[in-house]
Amino acid sequence: MPITLPAIPRRRFLQQSLAAACGSLLSKPQAVLAENAVTEQAWILFSDCHIDENSELIAREAKMAENLSRCITEALAWSAKPAGVIVSGDCAYLHGLREDYATFSTLVQPLRKAALPVHLMMGNHDDRVPFAEVLGQDITMPSPVEHRQIAVIESPLVNWFLLDSLDKTNGTPGVLGEDQRAWLENALDAHTDKPAIVVVHHNVVLQESKNALQDSSELLALLRPRKQVKACIYGHTHTWEVKPDESGIHLINLPPTAYVFNKAMPNGWVQATVQSDALKLELRCLDTTHSKHGEVKALKWRA
Ligand SMILES: [Fe+2]
Repeated sequence: MPITLPAIPRRRFLQQSLAAACGSLLSKPQAVLAENAVTEQAWILFSDCHIDENSELIAREAKMAENLSRCITEALAWSAKPAGVIVSGDCAYLHGLREDYATFSTLVQPLRKAALPVHLMMGNHDDRVPFAEVLGQDITMPSPVEHRQIAVIESPLVNWFLLDSLDKTNGTPGVLGEDQRAWLENALDAHTDKPAIVVVHHNVVLQESKNALQDSSELLALLRPRKQVKACIYGHTHTWEVKPDESGIHLINLPPTAYVFNKAMPNGWVQATVQSDALKLELRCLDTTHSKHGEVKALKWRA
């Protein structure tokens, strides 16, 4: 099952804060409830947070915990009142340590206190067991694909398919594998009623690349003919980029909240507004003087 941190109603948050030191903090994942007459819906997209136990740690000139907190503060000030948050992997700094997740869990509390469910995905710097244990997930719960944290999140205008491409913690490449691809095929075929957005940590590439999603071509081969699939979102490269696949599927590479590998690239987060026929993205850079800050991409759904 996926790791979803449910929203905490204010009264319950106070009770749970007291109980947190002596027991599990979380309950079952909370579905996003459909509302009547929804014409558009807002989501907060984060990726590559790389949170270390030490919230003062600086890597590649970025103080990762401070960056995440700044992104959260700004996201909570968004007038659109988002439906939820998706973090597309690399929540931990490098090795997926329990201590990293403890710090991460504290940092994302403001999102939960603001009644936002937070959907967490696995990156190549995460480790499923410590992640699940620290964040309170029952790891004995069966998953549709063994050892993978995957989910379908149904929302009023789209269905989100959250995948798990973690292969080896602190190794660079990732892979979905045959079982997960088979699950995705079935899950997509069971959800043809709305547009689908697929999210995975590793970058989906059109040509083989040793650090990317190793079964990118198999993934694209199953997504392209399923016309409800409109967009595929990923992180991993710490690079903001939006480009079309030949099929018309939008390929969206999220920026990191943490550090960049190329200093010309922005870090920050993305406002996603789902509409009935399109996805509107707005890049929010941590450096508000960056030339890409506020860049808007209006991505029409393919037919
Ligand atoms: Fe990363």
